[in-house]
Amino acid sequence: MPRSTTLEVEIAALSGRGEGIAESPKGRLYVPGTVPGDRVEVRLGPKGREGEVAEMIALLAPGPDRVKVACAHFFLCGGCALQGLAPPAYAAWKRDRVAVALARQGLGAAPLAPLVAIPPGDRRRADLVARRVGERVLIGFHRRKSHMIVDIGECPVLDPALVGLLPGLREVLAAVLASGAAVDCKATKTASGIDLVIVGDLALTLDRRELLFAFAETADLARLAVRNVAADLLDPIAIRRSPEIRFDDVVVDFPPAAFLQASPAAEAVLVAEVTAALAGARRVADLYAGLGAFALPLSAAASVRAIEGDAAAAAALRRGAARAGRRIAVETRDLARRPLSASELDGCDAVVFDPPRIGAKEQTGEIARSKVPLVAAISCAPASFARDARILIEGGYRLQRVVPVDQFVWSSEVEIFALFLRN
Ligand SMILES: C[S@@+](CC[C@H](N)C(=O)[O-])C[C@H]1O[C@@H](n2cnc3c(N)ncnc32)[C@H](O)[C@@H]1O
Repeated sequence: MPRSTTLEVEIAALSGRGEGIAESPKGRLYVPGTVPGDRVEVRLGPKGREGEVAEMIALLAPGPDRVKVACAHFFLCGGCALQGLAPPAYAAWKRDRVAVALARQGLGAAPLAPLVAIPPGDRRRADLVARRVGERVLIGFHRRKSHMIVDIGECPVLDPALVGLLPGLREVLAAVLASGAAVDCKATKTASGIDLVIVGDLALTLDRRELLFAFAETADLARLAVRNVAADLLDPIAIRRSPEIRFDDVVVDFPPAAFLQASPAAEAVLVAEVTAALAGARRVADLYAGLGAFALPLSAAASVRAIEGDAAAAAALRRGAARAGRRIAVETRDLARRPLSASELDGCDAVVFDPPRIGAKEQTGEIARSKVPLVAAISCAPASFARDARILIEGGYRLQRVVPVDQFVWSSEVEIFALFLRN
């Protein structure tokens, strides 16, 4: 059978990745860009690990929850997984990402709150890819399941200030990139302006440097740096204002391309949950503290021991806390290799932990062995969160509250706040 076969199918459900699922005479099909109830004509594509991926070539009849997609690039761009679904159905699908992960760990009865919606256009960090093709520069996100770049003119997910950077960035990259060369562009909107790190080998001649400097001026960037990964070098092209970020009105220096919660609105929801849950705590450990998104608000009422693996982030938090006279002891430490032990934790009234995507298996094991009465977990990865939740529960904690937050609007990712109490 030639692979160009087309079929007419009805979308019955959504996959965890946000593709429509249809049962067809050819077996199960995954159709990106569709929603349940859609009748679509599809072209069969490559056979994936979990079934056949098919491309929608015509929407014959929309499903009952279909709404207009928010972006002209949606059907090609891999930046978003699912648009075109009415908010209640979308919220149920997103919340289900957490419910499914919890159920896989035998925690299906966990008290899971409704999804907290976050408006699009609030994302303050963008990881863009750019490539010079002939005289043009394509800049945007990868196409779905491809290394090709979708050249974006709009992005309703990103903060408009980041979208506004694109025309000038495209122009300067056309002048400084060799034909065929590609770079990553990491842009963060900080309180004092945009911090942009261009990652790649730009062979920085004086001319190119001057062009980049002029771009930093016209775009009013706070800082522009070029990171050459092979040479392990960060070259500051222009520092026009010191990039900084504010947590609880405390100013913290922002190291180039450092971690920040992707959306300020989502961060505010997480901080409100953490500070409300830990309201009575006087001694707190904040693990995977980053620049202090939780440590600083908590330090208004508690003394905080903040642990962070990245030395630049830890130093920035230490300086910010010292300038503001906050009671935070900051330690640089690799919590995977050297987790805070149960006995080190035992003096604390509460622990906050917010690990990277892989979760915090070793650290959670130590918390599970501790006597800490209250544990707040933040996670951007339901599977590792659910595994760590199970370790805590087996160690004698109970899951009091789980709140999914739509920090990554229209993607299949979800942020989680959870509160555990010792039985
Ligand atoms: C999801 S971020 C959370 C940061 C901070 N809580 C916030 O909300 O902005 C995870 C943090 O863990 C740090 N990290 C990653 N692996 C680590 C490790 N093995 N030990 C300690 N910190 C680590 C990262 O540098 C990053 O700052």
